[in-house]
Amino acid sequence: EKRKPLLGKSVLVTAGPTIEKVDPVRYFTNHSSGKMGYAIAEIAAEMGASVVLVSGPTHLQSPPNVSTIRVESAQEMYETVLEYYEDTNIVIKSAAVADYRPKHVFDLKMKKSNDDSLIEMERTTDILKTLGEQKKNQILVGFAAETNDVERYAKDKLDKKNLDLVVANNVTQEGAGFGTDTNIVTLYRKNGTHLSLPMMSKKDVARSIINEIIKTLEEKQ
Ligand code: PMT
Repeated sequence: EKRKPLLGKSVLVTAGPTIEKVDPVRYFTNHSSGKMGYAIAEIAAEMGASVVLVSGPTHLQSPPNVSTIRVESAQEMYETVLEYYEDTNIVIKSAAVADYRPKHVFDLKMKKSNDDSLIEMERTTDILKTLGEQKKNQILVGFAAETNDVERYAKDKLDKKNLDLVVANNVTQEGAGFGTDTNIVTLYRKNGTHLSLPMMSKKDVARSIINEIIKTLEEKQ
């Protein structure tokens, strides 16, 4: 029988990419497979939590004992996450949410011509920032996917978005980031401590993240 340190806790996890349509047949997206977020949802459920997973489009199956809600765009993810936020104890935002979407979504397929084409983009809502602003007693965990200056950008996100923990991955490293079964992360906590982990499976990364969250919960009491 496994230890269930998250019994009685509700956990909200986001995973996968978002897709932002430009016309009925085309969209903008990114390389997120959902593996990192699904691993977190699975481990949180194993540890006894009641887990809601808000997932962008992926090829993965819902983990056992997890309530999975599928969404497409950043806006849909935002609305779904906000619905659950107030009644959630722990939020872990591993999704790769689009920062921009096409300003105009065409009803009909865009026709090609011989000219260059420009698609105007507008900002999406920053979900994590909104959660930080509306935070009451929740533990808020963000990710930072960076290609350079990882530590500086990660600590910046921790402060600016009012997070308790940030999981930083340098997505240019072999065995880290998008699509792989492994990740290489450093966990930065609000109390100033950090934990640098070697390359490990996304499930083991998920266990380490949850263990840091449990420490944070214990210190809050
Ligand atoms: O899905 P996999 O293939 O397993 O890959 C895992 C991963 C690389 C996607 C994951 O480890 C990861 O780093 N996820 C965060 C990706 C990301 O969008 O990082 P960011 O630095 O752009 O965003 C920072 C944080 O803000 C993230 O927690 C993100 O969910 C959040 N965000 C971003 C934009 C936005 N509009 N709203 C948000 O909430």
